[in-house]
Amino acid sequence: MKEFQNIVFFTGAGLSVESGIPTYRGQGGIWEDYNYQEYACQEAFASDPEKVWDFHDKRRAMIKSCDPNPAHRIIAEVQRRNPQTTIITQNIDGLHQRAGARNVIELHGSIWRLRCSESGVVEENFEVPLAQKRCGQSSWWRPDIVWFGDSLREDTINLALKALQRCDLFLCIGTSAVVYPAARMPQIAIDNGAETIEINPEETPISALFNRCIRSSASLALAEMFPG
Ligand code: APR
Repeated sequence: MKEFQNIVFFTGAGLSVESGIPTYRGQGGIWEDYNYQEYACQEAFASDPEKVWDFHDKRRAMIKSCDPNPAHRIIAEVQRRNPQTTIITQNIDGLHQRAGARNVIELHGSIWRLRCSESGVVEENFEVPLAQKRCGQSSWWRPDIVWFGDSLREDTINLALKALQRCDLFLCIGTSAVVYPAARMPQIAIDNGAETIEINPEETPISALFNRCIRSSASLALAEMFPG
């Protein structure tokens, strides 16, 4: 690992499993219990903001009760030692930052930020449950999350693309790689000549792209790759 100067950690929900946060898909996945069309898209929010907020308040409470796990801490430590390291995450839980990571590129936003449905103003907020859901007479705070059907922010994508262009090692950790455009990132790293490794206990639709696949949990694999 010492040979690599520009590592990109590309992470998904599997990274936070060992913190106690369920994944989205598969057994016990969030979308098994909740239909995303009722809880995680702009149409659902427009028709019943209280119901959508109830779901997100529950998620905020659950995430707040969880701590970063060794995988988050190893990634933060790698970045502390080499500040050229980039973390691109699909996770909205903020656990990378709580482990000490900096400048995390949050492709799908954050559950700890609110966005005004009218003005687009964004504020950090850690209240659980969120006391004031309205931010004006006709406007609501909505979680600053990329829901189904939403576009990713252009400035966020550009930051990620810049990191992918200069990375020499791309580590894809804990994502089922079925949600686009995020799932396109590994191919972009490959096209730019990076060495690529997938860490995931299960095969994914893009496993064949990688130079190497490590079929184990994020914390075990990272502890072996980055000892002490
Ligand atoms: N270590 C590493 N990977 C793990 C672990 C673990 N301990 N446990 C499970 N995984 C893997 C699973 O095998 C699965 O491939 O994590 C992956 C989680 O997949 P998803 O639940 O689909 O999560 P993710 O890929 O992050 O989802 C992408 O979908 O709903 C949207 O916006 C949401 O950002 C999310 C996006």
